[in-house]
Amino acid sequence: MKKRVLVLCYSQTGQLKACAQSLTGPLRESGEVEVDFVELVPEKPYPFPWGMKAFLSVFPQSVLGEPPPIQPPAVDPAKKYDLAILAYQVWYLSPAPPVVAFLRSPQAEALLQGTPLLALCACRNMWQRGWVELKRLVAEVGGRIVDHVVLIDQGPDWSTFYTTPRWLIAGKKEGGPFPPAGVSPQAIAGLRAPGERLLEALRRGPIEGSVFAGSGVEVLEVRRRYLLPEMAAKRVFRLWAKLIHGAGPSLKYPLGLAWFFWLLFSLPLAVPIALSGELLRLLNPSWYRERIEELVQPSGGPVR
Ligand SMILES: Cc1cc2nc3c(=O)[nH]c(=O)nc-3n(C[C@H](O)[C@H](O)[C@H](O)COP(=O)(O)O)c2cc1C
Repeated sequence: MKKRVLVLCYSQTGQLKACAQSLTGPLRESGEVEVDFVELVPEKPYPFPWGMKAFLSVFPQSVLGEPPPIQPPAVDPAKKYDLAILAYQVWYLSPAPPVVAFLRSPQAEALLQGTPLLALCACRNMWQRGWVELKRLVAEVGGRIVDHVVLIDQGPDWSTFYTTPRWLIAGKKEGGPFPPAGVSPQAIAGLRAPGERLLEALRRGPIEGSVFAGSGVEVLEVRRRYLLPEMAAKRVFRLWAKLIHGAGPSLKYPLGLAWFFWLLFSLPLAVPIALSGELLRLLNPSWYRERIEELVQPSGGPVR
C-alpha cells in the first residue's frame, strides 16, 4: 500500500510552499507516496506587499498568539497519514498567525495525534523563539514532532535586516548591492536531500523518531549569538504588543511606529545581550545547555 504524507502550509509569497514542494519532491516522484498538499487559508487574506501600516498591524496578534480564524483545512478526517509536515514561517519571533490558528483549530488534534510531525521553517533568520512556541502549541494538541528543518534568508544578517523587510513591505525582492531577499533558490533545491532521506525512512517502515539526527544530512544550524537577544526581545515585544492591543483604534498605528523605532534604536543592545549569553554559558552551563538542546532537538545540527 502507498504511504501517505500530509503537508499543511500557509505561504504568502510562495516561498514556504516552494520549500515544502522541494522537500516532498522525491516522495511524489517515487510514485510510492501519496502527498496531500493542504493550504491554510486565512478567512481575511493578509496583503502582499504589506505596506508599513498593515505590516505593523499584525504585530500584536502575532506576539500574543491571538490569530484571526482560518478556513477549515480541506482534509479528510478519516484518512490516516504516515507523516504530517507542518510548514511554518516566523512573524515577530512567533509562529505566523495562520499556523497558530490551525494549531488551535478542532482539526489540529484529530490530524496530529498519533501522526509523526515534521516542522519545516523558512524565515529571515530569527526562528528560535518561534520554534519553542510552535513545539508548545503542537504538544498542547497531543502532536509529536520528530524532525525540524530550517532554511534562512540568503546573505549576511546585516543585509537581510534591510532586504527582508523591504521585500515584505514594498514587494521588492532584488537587493541592489545586497543578495536578493528571501531564501536562495539553491537552498530550496537543496531540500531534495532531506526529501530523499524521508523517502528511505518511509520505505523502511513507520517513522518513530528523527530521520535526520546522525544521518549526515544537515537540516538546521543553531546560532548561539541569537539565544539571549531573541529571549530578551520576545519579553519586551510582549509588553509592546499588550500596550498596542489595548489601545484605541486611532492610537494603534502611532504606537506600532513607536515600537518599530524602539526596535531600530535598541538594535545595538543585541551585542552586549549576546555577550552576556556567553557569560551565562560559563556561570550556568546546565541552564545554557538545556536552552541550546531545546533548539537543536530533535533533528540535531551544528551550534555556532
Ligand atoms: C509580519 C512579518 C513578520 C516577520 N517577522 C520575522 C521574524 O521575526 N523573524 C524572521 O526570521 N522572519 C520574519 N519574517 C519573515 C517570514 O518568516 C518569511 O520569511 C516571509 O514572510 C516569507 O514567507 P512566505 O512563504 O509566507 O512568503 C516576518 C514576515 C512577516 C510578514
